[in-house]
Amino acid sequence: MKRVPSTLSPVIAVDRKAPVPLHKQIYDGFRSLIIGGNLGAGQQVPSTRALASELKISRIPALTAYAQLLAEGYFEAHTGAGTFVCRSLPEQFERSDRGPARATPVRTGARSISCLATALPPYKAIPWLRGLGAFNVGQIAFDQFPFQVWSRLVIRHCRNLNSTALQYGGPLGFEPLREAICTYLRTARAVQCHSHQVMIVTGSQQALEISTRVLLDGGDAVWMEEPGYWLTRDVLNSAGCRLIPVPVDDQGLDVAVGIKRCRKARAAFVAPSHQFPLGATMSASRRLQLLEWAHHSGAWIIEDDYDSEYRYDSMPIASLQGLDSNSRVIYIGTFSKTLFPSLRLGYIVMPLDLVDRFSAVRRAMDIAPPHFFQAVLTDFMNEGHFARHIRRMRQLYAQRRAALVASLSEQLLGSMEIVGAEAGMYLTILLPNGLRDQDVAERAARERLWVQPLSPAYLGENRRNGLVLGFASTSTAEMSKAVRHLKSVMDDEKRAQSTRSKTLLTPPQ
Ligand SMILES: Cc1ncc(COP(=O)(O)O)c(C=O)c1O
Repeated sequence: MKRVPSTLSPVIAVDRKAPVPLHKQIYDGFRSLIIGGNLGAGQQVPSTRALASELKISRIPALTAYAQLLAEGYFEAHTGAGTFVCRSLPEQFERSDRGPARATPVRTGARSISCLATALPPYKAIPWLRGLGAFNVGQIAFDQFPFQVWSRLVIRHCRNLNSTALQYGGPLGFEPLREAICTYLRTARAVQCHSHQVMIVTGSQQALEISTRVLLDGGDAVWMEEPGYWLTRDVLNSAGCRLIPVPVDDQGLDVAVGIKRCRKARAAFVAPSHQFPLGATMSASRRLQLLEWAHHSGAWIIEDDYDSEYRYDSMPIASLQGLDSNSRVIYIGTFSKTLFPSLRLGYIVMPLDLVDRFSAVRRAMDIAPPHFFQAVLTDFMNEGHFARHIRRMRQLYAQRRAALVASLSEQLLGSMEIVGAEAGMYLTILLPNGLRDQDVAERAARERLWVQPLSPAYLGENRRNGLVLGFASTSTAEMSKAVRHLKSVMDDEKRAQSTRSKTLLTPPQ
Protein backbone atom coordinates (compact mmCIF):
# COMPACT_ATOMS: atom_id res chain seq x y z
CA MET A 1 0.00 0.00 0.00
CA LYS A 2 1.25 3.49 -0.89
CA ARG A 3 2.25 5.52 2.13
CA VAL A 4 0.38 8.80 2.29
CA PRO A 5 2.75 11.47 3.53
CA SER A 6 0.86 13.60 6.00
CA THR A 7 1.79 14.78 9.42
CA LEU A 8 -1.12 17.11 9.90
CA SER A 9 -2.70 16.55 13.28
CA PRO A 10 -6.05 14.79 12.96
CA VAL A 11 -9.04 16.23 14.78
CA ILE A 12 -8.88 14.68 18.26
CA ALA A 13 -10.74 16.43 21.01
CA VAL A 14 -9.38 16.10 24.52
CA ASP A 15 -11.19 17.36 27.56
CA ARG A 16 -8.98 17.90 30.60
CA LYS A 17 -12.01 18.02 32.91
CA ALA A 18 -13.46 14.71 31.71
CA PRO A 19 -13.16 11.70 34.04
CA VAL A 20 -11.52 9.68 31.20
CA PRO A 21 -7.72 9.96 31.33
CA LEU A 22 -6.05 11.98 28.55
CA HIS A 23 -4.09 9.01 27.13
CA LYS A 24 -7.37 7.05 26.83
CA GLN A 25 -9.04 9.98 25.05
CA ILE A 26 -6.15 10.14 22.55
CA TYR A 27 -6.18 6.38 22.08
CA ASP A 28 -9.97 6.36 21.51
CA GLY A 29 -9.71 9.33 19.16
CA PHE A 30 -7.13 7.66 16.88
CA ARG A 31 -8.84 4.31 17.04
CA SER A 32 -12.19 5.68 15.94
CA LEU A 33 -10.58 7.74 13.14
CA ILE A 34 -8.90 4.57 11.84
CA ILE A 35 -11.97 2.41 12.14
CA GLY A 36 -14.10 5.15 10.57
CA GLY A 37 -11.68 5.42 7.64
CA ASN A 38 -10.71 9.07 8.20
CA LEU A 39 -7.14 7.95 8.76
CA GLY A 40 -6.10 5.56 6.02
CA ALA A 41 -3.61 2.70 6.06
CA GLY A 42 -0.07 4.00 5.59
CA GLN A 43 -0.93 7.57 6.52
CA GLN A 44 1.63 9.28 8.71
CA VAL A 45 0.52 10.57 12.11
CA PRO A 46 2.18 13.45 13.97
CA SER A 47 5.00 12.83 16.39
CA THR A 48 3.98 12.63 20.06
CA ARG A 49 5.81 15.90 20.61
CA ALA A 50 3.87 17.67 17.83
CA LEU A 51 0.55 16.20 18.97
CA ALA A 52 1.14 17.16 22.60
CA SER A 53 2.03 20.69 21.56
CA GLU A 54 -1.06 20.94 19.33
CA LEU A 55 -3.35 19.63 22.10
CA LYS A 56 -1.58 21.77 24.70
CA ILE A 57 -0.98 18.82 27.01
CA SER A 58 2.15 17.17 28.36
CA ARG A 59 3.85 14.57 26.15
CA ILE A 60 3.31 11.67 28.56
CA PRO A 61 -0.37 10.89 27.69
CA ALA A 62 0.53 11.05 23.98
CA LEU A 63 3.40 8.60 24.52
CA THR A 64 1.15 6.24 26.47
CA ALA A 65 -1.60 6.34 23.83
CA TYR A 66 0.88 5.76 20.95
CA ALA A 67 2.46 2.83 22.82
CA GLN A 68 -0.99 1.24 23.14
CA LEU A 69 -1.88 1.86 19.47
CA LEU A 70 1.47 0.37 18.40
CA ALA A 71 0.99 -2.64 20.65
CA GLU A 72 -2.49 -3.30 19.24
CA GLY A 73 -1.31 -2.98 15.64
CA TYR A 74 -3.14 0.23 14.71
CA PHE A 75 0.17 2.07 14.33
CA GLU A 76 3.57 1.04 13.05
CA ALA A 77 6.80 2.90 13.68
CA HIS A 78 9.56 3.33 11.11
CA THR A 79 12.86 4.34 12.57
CA GLY A 80 13.91 7.73 11.28
CA ALA A 81 10.67 8.23 9.32
CA GLY A 82 7.97 8.47 11.98
CA THR A 83 4.78 6.73 13.03
CA PHE A 84 2.17 5.54 10.54
CA VAL A 85 -1.26 3.97 10.53
CA CYS A 86 -0.50 0.28 10.08
CA ARG A 87 -0.34 -0.72 6.40
CA SER A 88 -1.77 -4.15 7.08
CA LEU A 89 -4.97 -3.05 8.75
CA PRO A 90 -7.74 -5.58 8.70
CA GLU A 91 -9.77 -5.31 5.47
CA GLN A 92 -12.80 -3.73 7.12
CA PHE A 93 -10.71 -0.79 8.34
CA GLU A 94 -9.22 0.06 4.94
CA ARG A 95 -11.65 2.63 3.75
CA SER A 96 -9.43 5.54 2.82
CA ASP A 97 -9.81 4.92 -0.94
CA ARG A 98 -13.53 4.64 -0.72
CA GLY A 99 -14.38 8.21 0.14
CA PRO A 100 -15.64 9.59 3.39
CA ALA A 101 -16.02 7.08 6.14
CA ARG A 102 -19.36 8.13 7.45
CA ALA A 103 -21.73 7.91 4.53
CA THR A 104 -23.86 10.98 4.01
CA PRO A 105 -27.22 10.13 5.47
CA VAL A 106 -29.68 9.06 2.78
CA ARG A 107 -32.47 11.55 2.57
CA THR A 108 -35.68 11.16 0.80
CA GLY A 109 -37.68 13.84 -0.96
CA ALA A 110 -36.52 16.75 -3.07
CA ARG A 111 -33.41 18.62 -1.98
CA SER A 112 -33.55 22.15 -3.24
CA ILE A 113 -30.90 23.57 -5.52
CA SER A 114 -31.10 26.75 -7.58
CA CYS A 115 -33.26 26.97 -10.70
CA LEU A 116 -30.19 28.07 -12.62
CA ALA A 117 -28.31 24.91 -11.61
CA THR A 118 -31.19 22.78 -12.86
CA ALA A 119 -31.00 24.55 -16.22
CA LEU A 120 -28.10 22.20 -17.00
CA PRO A 121 -28.43 18.42 -17.03
CA PRO A 122 -26.37 16.88 -14.20
CA TYR A 123 -22.75 16.32 -15.21
CA LYS A 124 -21.82 12.92 -16.50
CA ALA A 125 -18.73 11.80 -18.38
CA ILE A 126 -19.41 11.73 -22.11
CA PRO A 127 -18.00 8.58 -23.79
CA TRP A 128 -16.30 10.37 -26.70
CA LEU A 129 -14.60 12.94 -24.45
CA ARG A 130 -13.00 10.39 -22.16
CA GLY A 131 -9.79 9.39 -23.85
CA LEU A 132 -6.74 10.57 -25.71
CA GLY A 133 -5.90 9.34 -29.17
CA ALA A 134 -7.05 9.41 -32.77
CA PHE A 135 -9.64 12.08 -33.72
CA ASN A 136 -9.80 13.73 -30.29
CA VAL A 137 -10.98 17.24 -31.21
CA GLY A 138 -9.30 19.08 -28.35
CA GLN A 139 -5.98 17.24 -28.48
CA ILE A 140 -2.91 19.05 -29.76
CA ALA A 141 0.27 17.33 -30.96
CA PHE A 142 1.59 16.91 -27.42
CA ASP A 143 4.80 15.25 -28.60
CA GLN A 144 5.66 18.31 -30.69
CA PHE A 145 5.36 20.83 -27.91
CA PRO A 146 8.76 22.42 -27.06
CA PHE A 147 8.82 21.06 -23.53
CA GLN A 148 12.54 21.65 -23.14
CA VAL A 149 12.14 25.37 -23.64
CA TRP A 150 8.96 25.44 -21.56
CA SER A 151 10.59 23.52 -18.71
CA ARG A 152 13.58 25.87 -18.75
CA LEU A 153 11.25 28.82 -18.33
CA VAL A 154 9.26 27.04 -15.62
CA ILE A 155 12.49 26.38 -13.70
CA ARG A 156 13.61 29.98 -14.20
CA HIS A 157 10.40 31.21 -12.60
CA CYS A 158 10.46 28.62 -9.81
CA ARG A 159 13.86 29.92 -8.82
CA ASN A 160 12.86 33.55 -8.93
CA LEU A 161 9.65 33.70 -6.96
CA ASN A 162 9.38 37.26 -5.74
CA SER A 163 6.60 38.93 -3.80
CA THR A 164 4.66 39.84 -6.98
CA ALA A 165 4.57 36.14 -7.80
CA LEU A 166 3.16 35.26 -4.40
CA GLN A 167 0.77 38.09 -3.67
CA TYR A 168 -2.79 38.54 -5.03
CA GLY A 169 -2.70 40.09 -8.50
CA GLY A 170 -5.20 42.48 -10.06
CA PRO A 171 -8.34 41.19 -11.82
CA LEU A 172 -6.93 41.89 -15.29
CA GLY A 173 -3.92 39.66 -14.78
CA PHE A 174 -0.18 40.11 -15.26
CA GLU A 175 0.55 43.33 -17.13
CA PRO A 176 3.61 42.07 -19.09
CA LEU A 177 1.56 39.14 -20.39
CA ARG A 178 -1.28 41.46 -21.39
CA GLU A 179 1.24 43.53 -23.33
CA ALA A 180 2.67 40.47 -25.06
CA ILE A 181 -0.84 39.33 -25.99
CA CYS A 182 -1.69 42.78 -27.35
CA THR A 183 1.37 42.80 -29.56
CA TYR A 184 0.43 39.37 -30.84
CA LEU A 185 -3.26 40.18 -31.41
CA ARG A 186 -2.61 43.49 -33.14
CA THR A 187 -0.17 41.84 -35.52
CA ALA A 188 -1.63 38.40 -36.15
CA ARG A 189 -5.37 39.00 -35.67
CA ALA A 190 -5.78 42.71 -36.51
CA VAL A 191 -7.44 43.22 -33.11
CA GLN A 192 -7.65 46.84 -31.93
CA CYS A 193 -6.37 46.78 -28.39
CA HIS A 194 -4.31 48.22 -25.62
CA SER A 195 -3.05 46.17 -22.68
CA HIS A 196 -5.48 47.79 -20.23
CA GLN A 197 -8.36 46.34 -22.29
CA VAL A 198 -7.01 42.79 -21.97
CA MET A 199 -8.03 40.46 -19.16
CA ILE A 200 -6.25 37.15 -18.61
CA VAL A 201 -8.69 34.33 -17.86
CA THR A 202 -8.58 30.60 -17.37
CA GLY A 203 -9.46 29.76 -20.97
CA SER A 204 -12.33 30.75 -23.27
CA GLN A 205 -14.78 29.11 -20.93
CA GLN A 206 -14.18 31.62 -18.16
CA ALA A 207 -14.20 34.39 -20.75
CA LEU A 208 -17.68 33.30 -21.87
CA GLU A 209 -18.83 33.11 -18.26
CA ILE A 210 -17.52 36.56 -17.29
CA SER A 211 -18.87 38.16 -20.49
CA THR A 212 -22.28 36.64 -19.84
CA ARG A 213 -22.35 37.84 -16.24
CA VAL A 214 -21.36 41.37 -17.25
CA LEU A 215 -23.60 41.77 -20.28
CA LEU A 216 -26.69 39.64 -19.79
CA ASP A 217 -29.55 39.03 -17.41
CA GLY A 218 -31.74 35.98 -16.93
CA GLY A 219 -34.43 35.86 -19.61
CA ASP A 220 -32.40 37.87 -22.16
CA ALA A 221 -32.65 36.63 -25.72
CA VAL A 222 -29.30 35.63 -27.21
CA TRP A 223 -28.37 34.45 -30.69
CA MET A 224 -26.48 31.21 -30.71
CA GLU A 225 -24.97 29.58 -33.79
CA GLU A 226 -26.96 26.52 -34.92
CA PRO A 227 -25.16 24.13 -34.69
CA GLY A 228 -22.80 25.64 -32.14
CA TYR A 229 -20.39 25.12 -29.28
CA TRP A 230 -22.22 23.31 -26.48
CA LEU A 231 -20.14 24.86 -23.73
CA THR A 232 -21.30 28.32 -24.83
CA ARG A 233 -24.82 26.96 -24.68
CA ASP A 234 -24.18 25.66 -21.13
CA VAL A 235 -22.95 29.06 -19.95
CA LEU A 236 -25.99 30.81 -21.41
CA ASN A 237 -28.44 28.23 -20.11
CA SER A 238 -27.01 28.39 -16.65
CA ALA A 239 -27.36 32.17 -16.74
CA GLY A 240 -31.04 31.74 -17.57
CA CYS A 241 -30.78 33.30 -21.04
CA ARG A 242 -33.26 32.55 -23.80
CA LEU A 243 -31.33 30.94 -26.64
CA ILE A 244 -32.30 31.80 -30.21
CA PRO A 245 -30.76 29.30 -32.62
CA VAL A 246 -29.55 31.07 -35.77
CA PRO A 247 -28.54 28.76 -38.62
CA VAL A 248 -25.03 28.68 -40.01
CA ASP A 249 -24.27 28.09 -43.68
CA ASP A 250 -21.05 28.24 -45.68
CA GLN A 251 -20.86 32.02 -45.06
CA GLY A 252 -21.23 31.65 -41.31
CA LEU A 253 -24.12 32.87 -39.14
CA ASP A 254 -27.17 33.84 -41.19
CA VAL A 255 -27.70 37.34 -39.80
CA ALA A 256 -30.91 37.94 -41.76
CA VAL A 257 -32.52 34.87 -40.17
CA GLY A 258 -31.33 36.05 -36.75
CA ILE A 259 -32.96 39.44 -37.27
CA LYS A 260 -36.17 37.75 -38.43
CA ARG A 261 -36.20 35.43 -35.40
CA CYS A 262 -35.32 38.01 -32.79
CA ARG A 263 -34.18 41.48 -33.80
CA LYS A 264 -34.07 42.61 -30.18
CA ALA A 265 -31.66 39.93 -28.93
CA ARG A 266 -29.19 41.34 -26.40
CA ALA A 267 -26.16 39.49 -27.79
CA ALA A 268 -24.81 37.16 -30.46
CA PHE A 269 -22.21 34.51 -29.65
CA VAL A 270 -20.20 33.71 -32.78
CA ALA A 271 -16.96 32.14 -33.96
CA PRO A 272 -16.58 34.05 -37.24
CA SER A 273 -13.04 32.95 -38.10
CA HIS A 274 -13.78 29.25 -37.78
CA GLN A 275 -17.28 28.28 -36.78
CA PHE A 276 -17.61 25.29 -34.48
CA PRO A 277 -18.43 22.60 -35.57
CA LEU A 278 -19.12 23.20 -39.27
CA GLY A 279 -15.91 25.15 -39.83
CA ALA A 280 -17.31 28.01 -41.94
CA THR A 281 -15.57 31.38 -42.10
CA MET A 282 -18.00 34.28 -41.88
CA SER A 283 -18.05 36.24 -45.12
CA ALA A 284 -17.22 39.96 -45.20
CA SER A 285 -20.81 40.93 -45.99
CA ARG A 286 -22.20 38.90 -43.08
CA ARG A 287 -19.60 40.48 -40.76
CA LEU A 288 -20.71 43.95 -41.76
CA GLN A 289 -24.36 42.96 -41.44
CA LEU A 290 -23.74 41.58 -37.95
CA LEU A 291 -21.86 44.70 -36.81
CA GLU A 292 -24.59 46.89 -38.27
CA TRP A 293 -27.29 44.96 -36.43
CA ALA A 294 -25.36 45.16 -33.14
CA HIS A 295 -24.78 48.89 -33.56
CA HIS A 296 -28.42 49.69 -34.31
CA SER A 297 -30.02 47.40 -31.78
CA GLY A 298 -27.49 48.02 -28.98
CA ALA A 299 -26.56 44.33 -28.87
CA TRP A 300 -23.20 42.79 -27.96
CA ILE A 301 -21.19 40.44 -30.14
CA ILE A 302 -19.06 37.89 -28.36
CA GLU A 303 -16.39 36.74 -30.78
CA ASP A 304 -14.87 33.36 -29.89
CA ASP A 305 -11.57 33.21 -31.79
CA TYR A 306 -10.41 29.87 -30.45
CA ASP A 307 -8.23 28.35 -33.18
CA SER A 308 -7.82 30.77 -36.06
CA GLU A 309 -4.02 30.63 -35.83
CA TYR A 310 -4.32 27.55 -38.00
CA ARG A 311 -5.44 28.48 -41.48
CA TYR A 312 -4.17 26.42 -44.36
CA ASP A 313 -5.28 27.44 -47.82
CA SER A 314 -5.57 31.20 -47.45
CA MET A 315 -4.21 34.16 -45.56
CA PRO A 316 -5.28 34.50 -41.92
CA ILE A 317 -8.68 36.15 -41.58
CA ALA A 318 -8.72 39.38 -39.57
CA SER A 319 -10.86 39.43 -36.45
CA LEU A 320 -14.39 40.80 -36.43
CA GLN A 321 -13.38 43.03 -33.51
CA GLY A 322 -10.86 44.74 -35.80
CA LEU A 323 -13.70 45.83 -38.11
CA ASP A 324 -15.89 47.19 -35.33
CA SER A 325 -15.99 50.95 -35.00
CA ASN A 326 -18.68 51.05 -32.30
CA SER A 327 -17.05 49.00 -29.52
CA ARG A 328 -19.73 46.36 -29.66
CA VAL A 329 -17.44 43.31 -29.86
CA ILE A 330 -16.01 41.38 -26.92
CA TYR A 331 -13.09 39.38 -28.29
CA ILE A 332 -12.15 36.05 -26.69
CA GLY A 333 -9.06 33.93 -27.32
CA THR A 334 -7.34 30.94 -25.76
CA PHE A 335 -3.97 29.20 -25.51
CA SER A 336 -5.67 25.79 -25.40
CA LYS A 337 -5.02 25.18 -29.10
CA THR A 338 -1.74 27.01 -29.60
CA LEU A 339 -0.07 25.66 -26.42
CA PHE A 340 -2.00 23.03 -24.46
CA PRO A 341 -5.47 22.90 -22.89
CA SER A 342 -4.53 22.09 -19.29
CA LEU A 343 -2.65 25.39 -19.15
CA ARG A 344 -6.07 27.05 -18.72
CA LEU A 345 -5.04 30.45 -20.01
CA GLY A 346 -6.99 32.67 -22.34
CA TYR A 347 -7.91 36.33 -22.68
CA ILE A 348 -10.72 38.79 -23.24
CA VAL A 349 -10.34 42.05 -25.11
CA MET A 350 -13.06 44.33 -23.73
CA PRO A 351 -14.38 47.66 -24.95
CA LEU A 352 -12.63 50.36 -22.89
CA ASP A 353 -15.77 51.60 -21.16
CA LEU A 354 -16.51 48.10 -19.83
CA VAL A 355 -13.09 47.34 -18.33
CA ASP A 356 -14.12 48.32 -14.80
CA ARG A 357 -17.34 46.32 -15.05
CA PHE A 358 -15.53 43.21 -16.27
CA SER A 359 -12.90 43.70 -13.55
CA ALA A 360 -15.52 43.94 -10.79
CA VAL A 361 -17.26 40.75 -11.94
CA ARG A 362 -13.97 38.93 -12.28
CA ARG A 363 -12.87 39.94 -8.80
CA ALA A 364 -16.10 38.58 -7.36
CA MET A 365 -15.58 35.33 -9.24
CA ASP A 366 -11.97 34.31 -8.52
CA ILE A 367 -10.14 37.55 -7.70
CA ALA A 368 -7.31 37.17 -10.21
CA PRO A 369 -5.68 34.56 -12.43
CA PRO A 370 -2.92 32.42 -10.87
CA HIS A 371 0.39 34.17 -11.44
CA PHE A 372 2.95 31.47 -12.12
CA PHE A 373 2.12 30.34 -15.66
CA GLN A 374 1.33 33.89 -16.71
CA ALA A 375 4.95 34.76 -15.98
CA VAL A 376 6.23 31.66 -17.80
CA LEU A 377 4.04 32.39 -20.81
CA THR A 378 5.18 36.02 -20.94
CA ASP A 379 8.76 34.89 -21.46
CA PHE A 380 7.66 32.18 -23.88
CA MET A 381 5.99 34.84 -26.02
CA ASN A 382 8.57 37.60 -25.63
CA GLU A 383 11.47 35.30 -26.47
CA GLY A 384 9.87 34.25 -29.75
CA HIS A 385 9.01 30.64 -28.84
CA PHE A 386 5.28 31.17 -29.23
CA ALA A 387 5.47 32.51 -32.80
CA ARG A 388 7.96 29.78 -33.74
CA HIS A 389 5.76 27.06 -32.27
CA ILE A 390 2.66 28.29 -34.12
CA ARG A 391 4.59 28.38 -37.41
CA ARG A 392 5.78 24.79 -36.88
CA MET A 393 2.37 23.54 -35.85
CA ARG A 394 0.70 25.24 -38.81
CA GLN A 395 2.90 23.22 -41.14
CA LEU A 396 2.48 20.01 -39.20
CA TYR A 397 -1.30 20.31 -38.90
CA ALA A 398 -1.56 21.17 -42.59
CA GLN A 399 0.12 17.83 -43.36
CA ARG A 400 -2.10 15.96 -40.90
CA ARG A 401 -5.21 17.59 -42.28
CA ALA A 402 -4.17 16.69 -45.85
CA ALA A 403 -3.55 13.10 -44.74
CA LEU A 404 -6.98 12.91 -43.12
CA VAL A 405 -8.77 14.39 -46.14
CA ALA A 406 -6.90 11.99 -48.45
CA SER A 407 -7.68 8.94 -46.31
CA LEU A 408 -11.32 9.89 -45.92
CA SER A 409 -11.70 10.50 -49.65
CA GLU A 410 -10.05 7.18 -50.43
CA GLN A 411 -11.81 5.02 -47.87
CA LEU A 412 -15.14 6.65 -47.18
CA LEU A 413 -15.94 8.43 -50.42
CA GLY A 414 -19.61 8.17 -51.29
CA SER A 415 -20.67 7.59 -47.71
CA MET A 416 -19.90 11.04 -46.38
CA GLU A 417 -19.24 14.70 -47.20
CA ILE A 418 -16.35 16.69 -45.70
CA VAL A 419 -17.05 20.22 -44.41
CA GLY A 420 -14.92 22.88 -42.75
CA ALA A 421 -11.44 21.58 -43.53
CA GLU A 422 -9.88 24.98 -44.30
CA ALA A 423 -8.73 25.86 -40.80
CA GLY A 424 -8.30 24.74 -37.23
CA MET A 425 -7.56 21.32 -35.81
CA TYR A 426 -10.64 19.38 -36.86
CA LEU A 427 -12.99 18.83 -39.78
CA THR A 428 -16.50 17.50 -39.89
CA ILE A 429 -17.96 14.72 -42.00
CA LEU A 430 -21.68 14.58 -42.71
CA LEU A 431 -23.07 11.06 -42.52
CA PRO A 432 -25.53 9.47 -44.91
CA ASN A 433 -29.15 9.35 -43.84
CA GLY A 434 -29.98 6.64 -41.37
CA LEU A 435 -26.62 6.43 -39.62
CA ARG A 436 -26.99 7.92 -36.13
CA ASP A 437 -23.88 9.86 -35.15
CA GLN A 438 -24.18 9.38 -31.39
CA ASP A 439 -24.34 5.61 -31.82
CA VAL A 440 -21.29 5.71 -34.09
CA ALA A 441 -19.41 7.92 -31.60
CA GLU A 442 -20.28 5.63 -28.69
CA ARG A 443 -19.16 2.55 -30.62
CA ALA A 444 -15.99 4.37 -31.74
CA ALA A 445 -15.19 5.37 -28.14
CA ARG A 446 -15.35 1.70 -27.15
CA GLU A 447 -12.63 1.18 -29.76
CA ARG A 448 -10.64 4.17 -28.48
CA LEU A 449 -11.46 6.43 -31.42
CA TRP A 450 -12.60 9.80 -30.04
CA VAL A 451 -14.94 11.23 -32.68
CA GLN A 452 -17.59 13.73 -31.58
CA PRO A 453 -21.13 13.47 -32.91
CA LEU A 454 -22.49 16.55 -34.67
CA SER A 455 -26.16 16.29 -33.76
CA PRO A 456 -25.82 17.28 -30.05
CA ALA A 457 -24.39 20.62 -31.25
CA TYR A 458 -27.90 21.59 -32.44
CA LEU A 459 -30.47 23.29 -30.25
CA GLY A 460 -33.46 22.68 -32.49
CA GLU A 461 -34.98 19.51 -33.87
CA ASN A 462 -33.63 19.85 -37.40
CA ARG A 463 -30.31 18.10 -36.77
CA ARG A 464 -27.74 16.72 -39.16
CA ASN A 465 -25.82 13.58 -38.34
CA GLY A 466 -22.09 13.90 -38.66
CA LEU A 467 -18.78 13.35 -36.94
CA VAL A 468 -16.27 15.95 -35.85
CA LEU A 469 -12.77 14.56 -36.35
CA GLY A 470 -9.69 16.12 -34.76
CA PHE A 471 -6.52 15.59 -36.77
CA ALA A 472 -3.85 17.44 -34.75
CA SER A 473 -2.80 14.52 -32.57
CA THR A 474 -2.51 11.79 -35.22
CA SER A 475 0.66 11.50 -37.31
CA THR A 476 0.38 11.30 -41.08
CA ALA A 477 1.76 7.75 -40.90
CA GLU A 478 -1.02 6.69 -38.51
CA MET A 479 -3.86 8.55 -40.22
CA SER A 480 -4.80 5.99 -42.84
CA LYS A 481 -4.94 3.22 -40.21
CA ALA A 482 -7.13 5.37 -37.96
CA VAL A 483 -9.54 6.12 -40.81
CA ARG A 484 -9.70 2.42 -41.75
CA HIS A 485 -10.53 1.66 -38.14
CA LEU A 486 -13.25 4.32 -38.15
CA LYS A 487 -14.67 2.89 -41.37
CA SER A 488 -14.94 -0.54 -39.77
CA VAL A 489 -16.69 1.01 -36.75
CA MET A 490 -19.14 2.76 -39.07
CA ASP A 491 -19.76 -0.46 -41.01
CA ASP A 492 -20.39 -2.35 -37.75
CA GLU A 493 -22.80 0.36 -36.63
CA LYS A 494 -24.63 0.25 -39.99
CA ARG A 495 -25.05 -3.51 -39.62
CA ALA A 496 -26.18 -3.16 -36.00
CA GLN A 497 -28.70 -0.48 -36.94
CA SER A 498 -30.13 -2.55 -39.77
CA THR A 499 -30.41 -5.61 -37.48
CA ARG A 500 -32.16 -3.46 -34.87
CA SER A 501 -34.64 -2.08 -37.40
CA LYS A 502 -35.32 -5.61 -38.83
CA THR A 503 -36.01 -6.88 -35.31
CA LEU A 504 -38.44 -4.05 -34.77
CA LEU A 505 -40.23 -4.81 -38.06
CA THR A 506 -40.52 -8.58 -37.50
CA PRO A 507 -43.81 -9.43 -35.75
CA PRO A 508 -43.43 -11.70 -32.72
CA GLN A 509 -44.20 -15.40 -33.42
C1 LIG B 1 -15.72 26.84 -30.06
C2 LIG B 1 -14.66 26.69 -29.01
N1 LIG B 1 -14.32 27.74 -28.28
C3 LIG B 1 -13.35 27.65 -27.33
C4 LIG B 1 -12.68 26.47 -27.11
C5 LIG B 1 -11.55 26.43 -26.12
O1 LIG B 1 -11.96 26.45 -24.84
P1 LIG B 1 -10.98 26.67 -23.60
O2 LIG B 1 -10.15 27.90 -23.89
O3 LIG B 1 -11.91 26.89 -22.46
O4 LIG B 1 -10.13 25.47 -23.47
C6 LIG B 1 -13.04 25.35 -27.82
C7 LIG B 1 -12.39 24.07 -27.53
O5 LIG B 1 -12.52 23.07 -28.17
C8 LIG B 1 -14.04 25.46 -28.82
O6 LIG B 1 -14.38 24.39 -29.55
